[in-house]
Amino acid sequence: MSTSSSHEAWGTRIGLILAMAGNAVGLGNFLRFPRQAAVNGGGSFMITYFIALLLLGIPLMWIEWGVGRNGGRFRKGHIPGMFAAIWKHPAAKYLGIVGMIIPLTVMIYYTYIESWTLAFSFFSITKDYWGNTTQEAMVGYLQSYQGITAGSSHTMALGFFLVTLAINIWVLSRGISGGIEKLARIGMPILFLFAAVLAVVVIFLPPGPNGETAWQGLQFIYNPDFSRLDEPSVWLASAGQIFFTLSVGMGSLQCYASYLSKKDDIALNGIATAATNETAEVVLGGTIAIPAAVVFFGVTGAMAVAQSGSFNLGFATMPVVFQQLPMGNVLGFMWFALLFFAGITSSVAMLTPIVAFFREEFGWKREIIAWSFGVVTLLFGLMNIFWLQYGFLDEWDYWAGTFGLVLLAVIETVLFMWVFKPENAWASIHQGADIQIPRIFKFVMTYVTPVYLLFILIWWGTQDAIPILTNAKAAGGGTLTPEMHPYVTTARLIIVGFAIVFAFLIRIAWKRNNYDDRAGFVEVDQSGRTAV
Ligand code: PHE
Repeated sequence: MSTSSSHEAWGTRIGLILAMAGNAVGLGNFLRFPRQAAVNGGGSFMITYFIALLLLGIPLMWIEWGVGRNGGRFRKGHIPGMFAAIWKHPAAKYLGIVGMIIPLTVMIYYTYIESWTLAFSFFSITKDYWGNTTQEAMVGYLQSYQGITAGSSHTMALGFFLVTLAINIWVLSRGISGGIEKLARIGMPILFLFAAVLAVVVIFLPPGPNGETAWQGLQFIYNPDFSRLDEPSVWLASAGQIFFTLSVGMGSLQCYASYLSKKDDIALNGIATAATNETAEVVLGGTIAIPAAVVFFGVTGAMAVAQSGSFNLGFATMPVVFQQLPMGNVLGFMWFALLFFAGITSSVAMLTPIVAFFREEFGWKREIIAWSFGVVTLLFGLMNIFWLQYGFLDEWDYWAGTFGLVLLAVIETVLFMWVFKPENAWASIHQGADIQIPRIFKFVMTYVTPVYLLFILIWWGTQDAIPILTNAKAAGGGTLTPEMHPYVTTARLIIVGFAIVFAFLIRIAWKRNNYDDRAGFVEVDQSGRTAV
């Protein structure tokens, strides 16, 4: 329970788990996962996916809860503070800049995509897109909503973005237990209910025009397939998906965990969060979009759509399917509403490290910070809206939402497992724990996870990051046209700009609070806290 206004805490254990699961379960589970699985060979992707879950996802989950709760001992809910709490060196806080840029950048484009789901919930219930009965027509409808096609305007997209952003900021301004936890308690059950209904509907779909059934879609994903295991891109894509879906390497799980006390369990809660997310992803996320697409368009047809654009499976194929089903407008509404709830319980998490930074280091009021960053998100969000077709959003998604996550994960793993030392890390994760984690994971976290991460970083660096940086290929796939160059460059410069601003702010914060890098922070009193 909260003790004073400046010391926030989770209200209840179930609230904490729902909020953590809400953070992890997002658009990634229902939009990104089916697409990645389809593009990377279904059964092959799933093998590498489970290896990444075991060796990267789950270990990082525990590491991040540990890093976060340890930061909370000194009331640090932001990564620069958490790193400085572990490594008593002047450079530690600056390494944490990555953990400030990523959540801010991802928040800005993520809320924009989230706003499409809100819009499409309305367009489903009102049957606005009815009549666009082919996938091509639906892609056209989506692009006209996005203001990309000739003669279309951005007004609608802008309106829904404003509403989505306002709801996000309002929830955030209400704080951890009063805003985020409450939202999760309402949003998560609705999300699971809608997803379960849709999964059942899809499984019982009658055979499609070519006699295909949902069963063939499920087989495509779940039948183990070893044929593409020799392709590095499949391994990288599955690792990237594990990062994104579990929200690791971002800064927000750590911030959530910083509101726990040393009496609280993190071992069981951490694995429960991962398990909830994986159920939502593999069971529910895997049973909706791909099987539905396979029934109506066959395996090859479904793969072709997935290949044709990141959002086509969710925003074009699904609406075509709904139009052919009884009560399709209600089912369509459920699909987009579930996406919206999945999205918002994730996006409200993203700014929490930023709010924590300004509250803890500058003493600003939560409401002021939340609304100020609402304005920041709006301003930069406009670039995502107006420059969508020039690859602006893709560029941010690559550097912050893909490459950046691995970078942050490498730094935090090395700090927690090596600088803090494996024994201390292991003991810290087990403080107040309700379960004993199998000891093999201590070895995995100390050696396997960091080596795996370094491999990915280097592989990715040479395969993607350098070609993207030199404009030899586009971050969103395909080639980069000369007309896209200025926008892509601007996207990168803004990220660099964020880094510089945060570096200054960190420096100012440390000065004004007279922190001594070598001595570390003073521990705060958590004695008044009841365990959740
Ligand atoms: N895990 C979320 C998803 O699957 C995305 C996310 C990343 C949310 C980082 C919060 C922080 O969509």
